[in-house]
Amino acid sequence: MANWSAKNPYMSKITECYVLNGEGSKKETRHIVFDLGDSELDYKVGDALGVLSENPQNTVDLLIETAGWDSAHMVTTHNGERTIKEALKKDFEIHRVNKKFVNSLAGKVNSNGMRITVKVIDRYRESVAGNGSGWLDVDASLESELFPSIPGDDPLGRVEGLSSDPKAMEDYIWSRDYIDVIRDFDVNYSPEEFLEIVDKLKPRLYSIASSHDAHPGFVELTVGIVRYSHHGRDRGGLCTVYMADEVEVNKTDVGVFMSPTKSFVLPADKSTDIIMVGPGTGIAPFRAFMEQRIHDGGTGKNWLFFGDQSEKTEFYYKESIESWLDEGHLYEFTTAWSRDQKEKIYVQHRLKEHGARIWEWFERGAYFYICGDKTYMAKDVHRALIEIAMEHGGMSDADATHFIEKTMMREEKRYLRDVY
Ligand SMILES: Cc1cc2nc3c(=O)[nH]c(=O)nc-3n(C[C@H](O)[C@H](O)[C@H](O)COP(=O)(O)OP(=O)(O)OC[C@H]3O[C@@H](n4cnc5c(N)ncnc54)[C@H](O)[C@@H]3O)c2cc1C
Ligand SMILES: NC(=O)c1ccc[n+]([C@@H]2O[C@H](COP(=O)([O-])OP(=O)(O)OC[C@H]3O[C@@H](n4cnc5c(N)ncnc54)[C@H](OP(=O)(O)O)[C@@H]3O)[C@@H](O)[C@H]2O)c1
Repeated sequence: MANWSAKNPYMSKITECYVLNGEGSKKETRHIVFDLGDSELDYKVGDALGVLSENPQNTVDLLIETAGWDSAHMVTTHNGERTIKEALKKDFEIHRVNKKFVNSLAGKVNSNGMRITVKVIDRYRESVAGNGSGWLDVDASLESELFPSIPGDDPLGRVEGLSSDPKAMEDYIWSRDYIDVIRDFDVNYSPEEFLEIVDKLKPRLYSIASSHDAHPGFVELTVGIVRYSHHGRDRGGLCTVYMADEVEVNKTDVGVFMSPTKSFVLPADKSTDIIMVGPGTGIAPFRAFMEQRIHDGGTGKNWLFFGDQSEKTEFYYKESIESWLDEGHLYEFTTAWSRDQKEKIYVQHRLKEHGARIWEWFERGAYFYICGDKTYMAKDVHRALIEIAMEHGGMSDADATHFIEKTMMREEKRYLRDVY
């Protein structure tokens, strides 16, 4: 296989990038297709694609303007010599401020504190001249005017407060980028000082949603676009917004590489039954698995659990799923639409409802796959499996946990996860 990597990515083009959600959806999930062209890149189902992105031009321009830099100023980065404008676009993560930068403010606000105090005194003089009100009142109101988004003492005190309180730091950086912080603290950094502190731009991984046998020369993804708005500006995830908004279909070069899996693979024996649980974007590898199982033939049954907010707006790949069902490739399809009724219905509730049959499948050697949200969904599904083993396998909690976590997961390697 060709030697492309995160450091030496293949420059691919996106050939399709369309929204999978129906009208009125609260989500933006896209099907994105990359052309592998003459790369000689190959992949198997279960692998992930690494994608390198760039920062939005308007964020780069606003940062340069806010920091007061010359956009043609030359800097040296890990990728060589280039203008600060180019470096901010391609080499560094500038869409979210890091803790190191907030901590570094301590060495900056000291000297700038003087400048701010002078500004406060000037404004005090103006306001006293205007209305003759007392010093303390005016000082407090001016301070909150100068630092509208962070309550508290002087700038240095504020930085120290953030640096010594992990929760306050997380809350502060969660919604801010460097533009917000430079404005908040009115600080000056040279381009070189700034680049010493910011993080290098990292690639993002995406579970591949296609079988290479079914789509030779292409690799397809199911991507949830991250968008949000804070402090009066729309913003979002670096890579997802890049693919959705910045990349021009069939035009922009996008760096990609393969991230192969050793463990998240189909059973070698094609007569083995599989259960796949993939709500939301978690469906991605299972579209690939279905395409591969159809291509390979074999007698193993396929059971897919899928869900998202609403059947009307989030039934991704509906036509394919219906045709797999019609043609008998998909033995069973179980859905969990979480917001189509008053109470939440999640995939783990459906697993429990079908617990007796799931247990039968496990006893016959079925593989169990899960993909999607790691923080909540994967943990709840894991617990549901233990409860199924208790209820239908007649095991104690400890034995059921041992069976799911040790026997199925580690020894037999037939409980496999791709969670993020
Ligand atoms: C093995 C693997 C497979 C994956 N497969 C897929 C896949 O198939 N499909 C898919 O969509 N993703 C997948 N991901 C996730 C993907 O890699 C990225 O993490 C995701 O797309 C976000 O990247 P981003 O650059 O757009 O966002 P980033 O710039 O990395 O920002 C994401 C961060 O934004 C923050 N955030 C979210 N909402 C808000 C808010 N309202 N306010 C402030 N901050 C907020 C969160 O902290 C979140 O961590 C996978 C990850 C791994 C590790
Ligand atoms: N790093 C990133 O920024 C990024 C980007 C994209 C996706 N993601 C993450 O990747 C995961 C997949 O996102 P997605 O939009 O595809 O789907 P998702 O947010 O995981 O939602 C898919 C379905 O899972 C449901 N759900 C919520 N909590 C659950 C739980 N505890 N157990 C089972 N199901 C649960 C949701 O219901 P309700 O919504 O109705 O509760 C929805 O019906 C999420 O964790 C998401 O945050 C992260």
